[in-house]
Amino acid sequence: MADTSILASPGAAARPAREHFAEQYVPRFVDKWDALIDWDRRKAAEAGFFVERLRAAGARRVLDVAAGTGFHAVALIEAGFEVVAVDGSAAMLDQARANAARRGHALDAVHADWRSLGERLDGTFDAVVCLGSSFPHLFAEADRRHVLGEFSRRIAPGGLLMLDHRNFDAIRAQRYKSSGNYYYCGTGAKVSVDHADESLCRFRYEFADRETYTLEVYPVLKDEIRTLLADAGFVEVETFGDFKAVFDIFSTDFVIHVARRP
Ligand SMILES: C[S@@+](CC[C@H](N)C(=O)[O-])C[C@H]1O[C@@H](n2cnc3c(N)ncnc32)[C@H](O)[C@@H]1O
Repeated sequence: MADTSILASPGAAARPAREHFAEQYVPRFVDKWDALIDWDRRKAAEAGFFVERLRAAGARRVLDVAAGTGFHAVALIEAGFEVVAVDGSAAMLDQARANAARRGHALDAVHADWRSLGERLDGTFDAVVCLGSSFPHLFAEADRRHVLGEFSRRIAPGGLLMLDHRNFDAIRAQRYKSSGNYYYCGTGAKVSVDHADESLCRFRYEFADRETYTLEVYPVLKDEIRTLLADAGFVEVETFGDFKAVFDIFSTDFVIHVARRP
């Protein structure tokens, strides 16, 4: 089953039950994360989008701040980049290390919360990537602003930030119907939206073995992110829908922003 349905339930709680992102990634859910992805299909769907932009920008060192189970960190290592992988979930990082090791790579992995990234990492990178709809884990606008500042300080002048999110414009308008062709391409789980309003989106992941998990995030809008990026000093902000520069927001699964630090 692909990522298909939206079930807005007006009666469901409108406040996040677990505001701290790491508590949501319980080990059994993390174990199943790769079944959601399908690494081969995800790579094919991206069609080199991130690698091409990094190469065009002359990037060599990349910081993946939302490593998860390591999909992008590994893909970027295999494309020849020097990668440092960060995640605030120890369970995710363990899985990322194991996935990288299975492919013959020793992952340079750092357990850190973006809100205090500067305390855990020195130096700058040619690019920061924050992918897989990770940034919406930040519920407070002050955190979103602060974290974009943290990301910016990790990027060398002229470097890139690539950050994406699910299409919450459509989700909040009750018009979301994911194709299941991008990012989370696995067929072993049914992903639905069981609550969506302007401050909370709750996804429900039901796996073939009937285990069910939820993820609660802040449903950030496309233009909200563009404004935050500009306010954080990023320039040349480009926005893509499912990797296309020209897109219909209501026929889009994921929104991807590419911005430059001056
Ligand atoms: C939706 S998962 C995406 C993982 C991976 N990028 C992918 O595409 O499969 C979000 C990831 O961001 C991490 N994350 C969320 N908020 C974070 C924060 N404040 N600091 C560090 N990591 C965070 C979570 O632990 C999780 O691994």
